[in-house]
Amino acid sequence: MCGIVGYAGNQTACGKPLEVCLQGLKRLEYRGYDSAGVALAAPGMEQVVVRKKAGRLANLEADLQARPLPDATVGIGHTRWATNGQPSDINSHPHLSSDGHVAIIHNGIIENANQLKTELEAEGHSFVSATDSEVAAKLLGKLAQEVMDETGEPDLCEALRRMARMLTGAFTILAVDNRQPHIVVGARHDSPLVVGLGEGENFLGSDVAAFVAYTDQAMEVGQDQAVCLSGDQVVITDFDGNPVTDSKRFTVDWDASEVEKGGWPSFMDKEIHEDPSAVADTLLGRFDAKGDIALDEVHIDEEVFRSIDKIIVVACGTASYAGMVAKYAIEHWVRIPVEVELAHEFRYRDPILTHRTLVVAISQSGETMDTLMALRHAREQGSRVLAICNTQGSSIPRESDAVLYTHAGPEIAVASTKAFLAQIVAAYMLGLYLAQVKGTMFADEIRQIVGQLKAMPAKIQWVLDHQADQVEQAARRLSGARSFLFLGRHVGYPVAMEGALKLKEIAYTFTEGFAAGELKHGPIALVEEGEPVVVIVPSSHGRDTLHNKVISGIEEVKARGAFTIAVAEEGDPDAERYADVVFWRPACPTLLSPLVDVVPLQLLAMDMAQIKGLDVDKPRNLAKSVTVE
Ligand code: F6R
Repeated sequence: MCGIVGYAGNQTACGKPLEVCLQGLKRLEYRGYDSAGVALAAPGMEQVVVRKKAGRLANLEADLQARPLPDATVGIGHTRWATNGQPSDINSHPHLSSDGHVAIIHNGIIENANQLKTELEAEGHSFVSATDSEVAAKLLGKLAQEVMDETGEPDLCEALRRMARMLTGAFTILAVDNRQPHIVVGARHDSPLVVGLGEGENFLGSDVAAFVAYTDQAMEVGQDQAVCLSGDQVVITDFDGNPVTDSKRFTVDWDASEVEKGGWPSFMDKEIHEDPSAVADTLLGRFDAKGDIALDEVHIDEEVFRSIDKIIVVACGTASYAGMVAKYAIEHWVRIPVEVELAHEFRYRDPILTHRTLVVAISQSGETMDTLMALRHAREQGSRVLAICNTQGSSIPRESDAVLYTHAGPEIAVASTKAFLAQIVAAYMLGLYLAQVKGTMFADEIRQIVGQLKAMPAKIQWVLDHQADQVEQAARRLSGARSFLFLGRHVGYPVAMEGALKLKEIAYTFTEGFAAGELKHGPIALVEEGEPVVVIVPSSHGRDTLHNKVISGIEEVKARGAFTIAVAEEGDPDAERYADVVFWRPACPTLLSPLVDVVPLQLLAMDMAQIKGLDVDKPRNLAKSVTVE
């Protein structure tokens, strides 16, 4: 939520700070798109220069074209997902101090903003916006007047640290001051911030996407730390000013071109077509020479893994559905209970956690506040936490005991697609690894499943190559439908939930996903003439009873006038006979079928949104990273 970028270079004033801010905001826009703004400073400026506009980044760019800003040495940029104060020019960031010397941008929520505002108003400061963030601008401006460095100049870095100690809530704050035009300062508490390390220039970003076009060298900023950035130096301290010397450096493994659309009409389209590579890349490098699973990057002792007697997956939205899929497989393979819990419910219900519980936090962004809070709670209770995450340098892996990265590449479209598949694969690798160390499966069995997993990218590609037209025709036919139902059983149940979520968030169609067995316990009352019902049909071999029961479900809703769409294994005669439309997928083992079944549902949501003329990458009211509770 809210994207933040900062730049400091050691050149004389030039256009680079603005260029970096706008490039960064373009790449961070998925974090929020209610408004965008920049602030620049350079030697000789009498005040900080700020320009901000409500709406998409394009509005700000058009304004900057019409009224260009002067050259600068440092800059900060912000793209907003509104929390306090509606989207408007005035509520956009950056916000200015009362004397106009300091500009700040903020991500998060300042919980004691009202109290601080009252105190500042009593001192004569007046406020123009309805945001909590403006309080930080006025307060930092005031503190900067009070705190001087040894040369008698305002010490912005120390002022920011003082302010950070006064704020409660969650925040990443960046600031510039025209009296210190060679530095950008930042502080973070429960909100993300990463440093990008360049040559004669340095960067700050909410995530590495902000600066990946300029450098692949990055450094983490830890919880409750402040950073002072110039072109030549990055100084990190705690909020008391004590130097931090153990900040972790890393090389970003995302390519700059990966955060471009690369000719695709939308990021979502591109990312759905990257489903096969997300699966293949997440499998890469996780086997030793014998073909056994070797999760070298997971620094938890084998002995500890052997002692695990329960897994709790904590996640939100799509990531929680990946966890639900994993539950079926891990319980089957490892024979220990797996609970899947929405992260925002988890810590409020006093969950039973011991040192033998492994909590698996699944998150694409690595910044979802609910998931972060859940994992902190689990660690406080003595459980180990393993993160399954797609974003290096983000908070969730940093605060976990171990991390298994999904290698889906950057996911820019707000609706999660390829990351879902990669999360399932990573969770499966964890399950198979546990089965290996606990000896609940024979090595040959594990190898057979790994072989089947390795065959999945080609099967996913087959769906993309051979079913896209069929899906598009169905989307055209059904784009006027007021609501949809999605049904599935076993691993098809979370797939149905995910299909329903995709359609509601992208096409704004009212949808519900149900366990197909639940149909007669209530949801069938919703079925009326023409109601589209999407059914995930299990393969007819192996678990045939389940197949037959799901087919009966199709018959039941059809008898009540539903228009039925089946996702079924190629050549399934029952699906062909009973469903009005079938999206085919290649044969594969039941536990792996979500990796192919979900693909036509992703395409369906995207096609429906496109046909309705909606912005598929940036659905209304949503942001990619939900960094507030
Ligand atoms: C839906 C979607 C969300 C996320 C959820 C968790 O398409 O993207 O439901 O899955 O907000 O986000 P992460 O995985 O970043 O923790």
